[in-house]
Formats: sequence, C-alpha cells, structure tokens
Amino acid sequence: MTATSYLGKPTSRVDGRAKVTGVAKYAAEYNVAGLAHGFVVSSAIAKGRIKRIHTADALSVDGVLDVFTHEHRPKLASSHEKYTDEIAPPGSPFRPLYDDKILFSGQPVALVVAEEFEIARFAASLVRVEYERKPHITDFDAQRKRGAISKRDPANFVARGNPTPAFEQAAVRIEAEYRMPIEHHNPMEPFAATAVWEGNGHITVFDKTQGPQNCRNYVAGVFGMPRDKVRVLSPYVGGGFGSGLRPQYELPLAVLAARALKRSVRVTLTRQQMFTLGYRAANVHELALAAGGDGTLASFRHDAVSMTSQFEDFQRDLVNWSSLLYKCANSELGRRLVKLDQNTPCDMRAPGGAEGAYAIECAMDELAYAANIDPLELRLINYSDKDQIEDRRYSSKELRECYRQGAEKFGWSRRSPQPRSMRDGNELVGWGMATGIWEAMQMPASAKAVLTANGSVEIASATADIGPGTYTWMTQLAAEMLGVPIENVTAKLGDSALPDAPVEGGSFTVSSVGSAIHAACQAVQKELLALAQKIAASPLAKAKLDDVVFAEGKIRHKHEASREVSVADAMRAGKADRIEKEASAEPNERSKYSHLTHSAVFAEVKVDEELGIIRVTRVVSAVAAGRILNPKLASSQVLGAVVGGIGMALHEETVTDHRFGRFMSHNLADYHVPVSADVHAIDVIFVEEKDDEINPLGVKGVGKSASSAPRRPWRMRSIMRPANACAICRSRSTS
Ligand code: MOS
Repeated sequence: MTATSYLGKPTSRVDGRAKVTGVAKYAAEYNVAGLAHGFVVSSAIAKGRIKRIHTADALSVDGVLDVFTHEHRPKLASSHEKYTDEIAPPGSPFRPLYDDKILFSGQPVALVVAEEFEIARFAASLVRVEYERKPHITDFDAQRKRGAISKRDPANFVARGNPTPAFEQAAVRIEAEYRMPIEHHNPMEPFAATAVWEGNGHITVFDKTQGPQNCRNYVAGVFGMPRDKVRVLSPYVGGGFGSGLRPQYELPLAVLAARALKRSVRVTLTRQQMFTLGYRAANVHELALAAGGDGTLASFRHDAVSMTSQFEDFQRDLVNWSSLLYKCANSELGRRLVKLDQNTPCDMRAPGGAEGAYAIECAMDELAYAANIDPLELRLINYSDKDQIEDRRYSSKELRECYRQGAEKFGWSRRSPQPRSMRDGNELVGWGMATGIWEAMQMPASAKAVLTANGSVEIASATADIGPGTYTWMTQLAAEMLGVPIENVTAKLGDSALPDAPVEGGSFTVSSVGSAIHAACQAVQKELLALAQKIAASPLAKAKLDDVVFAEGKIRHKHEASREVSVADAMRAGKADRIEKEASAEPNERSKYSHLTHSAVFAEVKVDEELGIIRVTRVVSAVAAGRILNPKLASSQVLGAVVGGIGMALHEETVTDHRFGRFMSHNLADYHVPVSADVHAIDVIFVEEKDDEINPLGVKGVGKSASSAPRRPWRMRSIMRPANACAICRSRSTS
C-alpha cells in the first residue's frame, strides 16, 4: 500500500448522519406486519427447580397469544453441543426454557407473548412459579477462602528460573493483593431480537449481536434448521463491550415463539434483565515482586483467581502479561477458578488483560516506591524486547516511544513522588502512569468487492459495527484501493448472508476483515489491469500490478504518469459492466514473531479530602498500534477506553445480595458509569509504528488499548492469548 488518498485521514463516520437522525435502525426497531411481543419471566431463586408453573391467569388476559415454558414449547435440540457458539467456553451452555432446573437468579423461566408489549408485560406479572429451592452459593470471596477452588491451570502456567529463592534473596520486595468486583457491560441498547416469520421455512432475525454469523449458526443448531434458512442481521449495534459476542437468550426465545405461533415475534429485555446475562467475573490477584537495588526485576509471581458458573468454565488470560512486558529470569504464574451459582461470565472490555494489567501495573508501582525509583524509569529498566512465553521477538514494539511521548506531553518530569506533596487549592494531586498491552490478533475472514462501470463500489463482509467505525474504514479502504471517491463506496455488514467474518471483538476486525477487503480489492485491481491491457496499444502494456496505482478513476503507471487508462475505458474495452470479487485472508500462522499492541497512560487525579471527591482531571494515552487507518476513529476508541477505565477504577460495581444470590444494583441508577462530569481532559497520541510483517495493511487494532485512573487503579485493555486463553481465539490456537 503506497498511495494514500483516504487512508490515514480523519474521515468522519459514514454512518454518523444515519445514527444521529434516527434513520439507523436497531434490533427492536424493525416493525413488520403482525408483529407479536414477548416478555420474559425471570427466576426468583438462584438454585433449585421449578415444581409447577401456573400460566392460566396470564393466558386469560385479552391479547395474550401464548405463554411458553419448559413444559410448553416447540422442540429444541437436546444436545448441549447444538447450543454452543464460537465464543462458548468449555462446558454445557445454558439452554433457555429447556428443563425445570434453575441455575442462576434471573434465569428466564417463561416467555409471555401478546399482541402488545404492555399486555405481555402485564400478563408476565401473573405467571406464578412454585420452586423447590436448593441452597445457592454466590459469594466469591467466601468460596475462595473456603478453598473451593480449581487446581492451578497448567495451560496457563509458565515458570522460569527459580522464583522463590530469587525472591528471598532480593534487595527489594513487595507482596500485594488486588481485586476487582463483578461488572456489567451496560451498552446503551438493550438486548432485543425481532424474529421475522417468512412463512417459507426461512427465518430472519434482527438481533443485537456482535456476530451475526455466530448467531445464525446457533439458531440453526438449536432449532435443527439448515444454516441457509436462517439469516441474522445486526446492521447497527448500540454498544457491546463484549456482551454481544455470544448469542443471548432473547434470540432463541424470539425464534422459538415465532416458530410456534407462525408469526413474527420480538423479545426485548429490560435493563434489569440485562443484568441476568454474562458479566465481568470478579477476580483477585496475588503478586510477589522482587528487584535488585538498581530496580532490575529478580522475581515475578502472579496468581489470579476468578469466578465462573456451575455449567461452563469461563477463564481468560489474567496473568501472562508480565512475561510480555517485563524482562525477568524468574517467574511463576497461575490462575484458578471458583464455581458459583451464577450465570457464566462473559468477555468484557479487554477480558483478562484489563484485569491482569491492572494488578501487574499496580504492583510495579508499589515496587517502584519500595525501590525508590521513578515508576516510569522502573518500566524502562525492565523493558522486554522479547516475548518470554514464546521466546521470540515482536514484529514491532514502539512502547518505549509511547513512554517517551506520553511522559513529555503529560509533563511527567515535573512529578513529585512524595505522597501528599502535590496540591491544588483544597485538593491533593496525584500523578501516575501505567502500561497497556493487548494481543494483536487476526482471524480468518472474507469480503466481497463489486465495482460497476459507473464507478460505484460496494464492499461487504458479515462483521458488525458495534461503534468503532467499521463502516467508515471499510469505505476508506475500498476507495483507496480502487481509486474512486469515497462517496461512491457503500459498505455492507451486520448480515449473516454476507461473506464470512468473525464476531466483532478482540480488536481484530481491522486486521481480519481489513485484510480480506484488501485481498478482494486487489483481485478487482488485477482484473482491471488485465482489461486495460486488452486495449489496442495499451499504455499499460506489460505493466505489473505493483507498477500501477489506482487513483481518480484511473489506472496509472507509478513511474510514468503519462501511462494511464481510465477505469471506465478498461471496463468498456472488456465489455464488463461490473467486476465482482470475493476473497479471504488468513492470519500468518508461520510468523516467527509475537504481535502485540502497546500503550502508555499517564493520569492526574485530584482528591478533595474534605468532601471525598475524586476527579480524574487529566489523562494522556500514547498508543502504538501499527498503522492507523483513521486517526479520528482510532482516537475515539482510546477516549472510550479511558472513560471505561475511569468507570472500572472509580464507579462500576455490581453488588450481589447473597441471601438471594441476586444482583441488586441492576439498573443505571445503582450501577454507576462515568458521566460527562466525571470525564475531563484526555489526550490521545498515536506513536508511529511500522509493521510490514503482521499483515498487508500493517494494522494491529486499537480498541483494547487503554483506560485509566491514577497512581492506583490503572487498568488497561488487553487480551485473550490465542495459545491458551480466549474462547474467541480458541479456534486459532497455536499451542
Ligand atoms: Mo470485546 S470484550 O472483544 O467485544
């Protein structure tokens, strides 16, 4: 890629107008003739079984069409395997309305379907359930302390050297424990599915999801339908944060009702019901770090415990990050699980990385204080040029430059390290920094490019756009490669019928889908050049694809600008009124390098001691993420990550009442997310990072790259290591 008419430019979102004017439609906004409405009845207990379920009162309400329960429903697949999806952790996925078992509080136990939403909601209040209660266990800390814990996960266990003696003998030592509560994603758009009854054996569903094909495959499995008779669409998604990676229960419930009633059905979850879906698992980290007097790390031990359900083992990479960040000859890492009577956790905002980096970076900070070394200096002393897990180098790593540019912009050199030494009027001032890291992944993906004789381009892939701007960079990339004005390009996504794409998550959409678009556009380029060369005495005779550029509707020789053929002439010569190419791209499995995205974050926090108010007044986030296709979109991603980090550090927590085994802060009044008044100055820097090895575009992915707070809870967004952790990546496992 050389020419840059569109790539690297801060193009505004091509779907921006549709979104702000309300033209963009979301899953619950597709109105079709004869649409019926479903309302979910949620379990009042956390564990046990349904003895009896009384639906007569609900059924007698005018306008109620049916009440579905485990005793009254159409046939569903009987095998757990049919319920799995590409993100499912090991185990037996929850099957809504399958049997009488209650596995978690809030589990759907009935679906009332009526002519109107309000009727369904009222009738749902009349459904009476008799339960046989069993004692539930939902207290993570209590179970952990009781030792109800899995064995240390050997898959995630990486030991080097002799960490224990090295710790004992070191000049400087710290031991610390860090914890994170359960958190919920809380995207703006509630989960909803509109299942459109087509009447010809086909079903079309508008669902809130980050992966329309993942949901299509799930529906086909659960209902025993051929995949080509199921179509799932999610052209717009009102936020995800990971909550839409797996199919959620509104989807099978809407399809179940539509199939039974032979009419279209919509199921919308309430905000409270959104708290019955997956969540970020609570987790606890124990770290023991030791260093020589000069700050050189001598020993690094990190053990993490997180929670999962009774039916699936959800576990992400919580501890490997230090081996990618800091050089240390002696290291021991491990992770374990506690099983509870809750729903299975779900990936949320850099699953594993956000938690792990938070603990590691806090511990590094403690060590810096113990060694009396500047925290940034300590990171530089222990900077790792090598991935110590795979024992190989990085394809690129400009983290040092992130530290330098971030520190300079922030004014780090003016920091006074002494606690309580910096003040601004009534407020104490604290300055802190941390490192961010995430695996730069790529998944197999396909895309289609269509160029028509009038110069318009359509580009398509079954990915989603949950907010990062997928429509926009897809448009930029196609315009760039085919040399047409950006207005001529239409991007299509969020439709399972389009060429294969993974879920949108893990910050791998640009690398995966972008590489596929690159391949599809290149195929169009090849054909155009061939057509141009068919012209008698073609000015481009003998030119190779590498010798030409596509710009301003022309194919032009790179070195002799006078040698050119217009795209229109080339197509006319070939009597082609359209060129359509589909292509796929695969990650480079044979790479000798590790691929990671890094960032350095600096934060200023002011604390009013009298009022107890904490404000994050200034954040600088410097990111090295390979080539940035659109700095406006990318910096919005980082701004969002910083706001998410402020939320995690200072606001967000899901509170459980263990007497009921139920989440009590299940609304946006009690579950606090940062609001505008909590967010102050945020500066984003993209450090130049050239990476020719990683993929043809040289892109890594930005989203999971940074969020923060002060000297203390600094969290970064990071990832799922293909080798051993992430369900998303499991299919691409390298170990
Ligand atoms: Mo993100 S947690 O991969 O949607």
